[in-house]
Amino acid sequence: MRGSTRQRGLWLGAVITATLVLLAGCTSGVDSFDVVTSRGRSVSDLFLWTIIIAAIIFVGIAIAVAYILIRYHDRPGAPAPRPNRHVHRFQIAWISAMVVLFAIFAGFMFHSMNIIGAPAAPSALRVTVIGHQWWWEYQYPDLHVTTANELHVPAGRPLQLTFQTSDVIHSFWVPQFGWKMDALPQRSNEMAFTIDKPGYYQGTCTEFCGAQHAWMRLRVYADTPDQFDAWVKQHQQPAAPPQSELARSGEQVFLANTCISCHTVAGTSANANIGPNLTHFASRETIGTGIVTNNPTNLTQWIRDAGSIKPHVLMPGFPTLSDDQLKALVAWLEGLK
Ligand code: CUA
Repeated sequence: MRGSTRQRGLWLGAVITATLVLLAGCTSGVDSFDVVTSRGRSVSDLFLWTIIIAAIIFVGIAIAVAYILIRYHDRPGAPAPRPNRHVHRFQIAWISAMVVLFAIFAGFMFHSMNIIGAPAAPSALRVTVIGHQWWWEYQYPDLHVTTANELHVPAGRPLQLTFQTSDVIHSFWVPQFGWKMDALPQRSNEMAFTIDKPGYYQGTCTEFCGAQHAWMRLRVYADTPDQFDAWVKQHQQPAAPPQSELARSGEQVFLANTCISCHTVAGTSANANIGPNLTHFASRETIGTGIVTNNPTNLTQWIRDAGSIKPHVLMPGFPTLSDDQLKALVAWLEGLK
């Protein structure tokens, strides 16, 4: 008997240690309590207060249960529990208190829903977010800019995000924005908020959408107004002309292969929109929606066999390209700043 109690104690210790180790990983810049939009704070405040009040009730019940267990547990000379004549009154009071508490929380919940569901300010920057298996497309209809996987927005200015999908349901969740939104087939959803402080915010797709759901990451850059204006000016330009003979031949490799069946590079004859727009590909920090850093080595491997980096990716491999063709193609793509 003593041995098994000790064993249970060891197990409990192991579980607590493992939980603490896992929780230690929660400070990775995706903290749902460090919300950077005022609308989102109405959600995180509601969550925090719900947790605090639930914790108080939990502790109260735990103390009551512990008291009853200790006082009435079966032993020689223990007092026998006596029937309580007021038990019905107590039950009614307890249930009434719960109903009132639920009503109060429902009120706060509707209040938060009103705040986050309010329409965007007329001056808001509009961005259409389109979910694809397994990447994000961003269109700025008023700025005539289209990009992929790395969303740039100005901090301090109202934003209006409209969500659509080209295939299955996806869900846009950047924890520090405060709430999330589904991208559904056949309809548009909206999210309106202002990001208070410039920074880099990470998130991920949170609706299971197939093999690479886990690698459908979100990278949001809330730029200062000057940085954002410069980014827009750069992205309104067509692709940079090739700067070397190698890059020039790389462009020809691109245009002569099936790359143009899926991708757009503004300023060339490639204008398909099945895969990400590559006009300013080299300005992005990652390849494959965040799976690897955007550098020539990774890009070479990505073009040769994207599935070796991201299994089931819809981009086919190009094993027939020679090393020279691949080198030229990579040189051109990495020049598309
Ligand atoms: Cu897209 Cu999960």
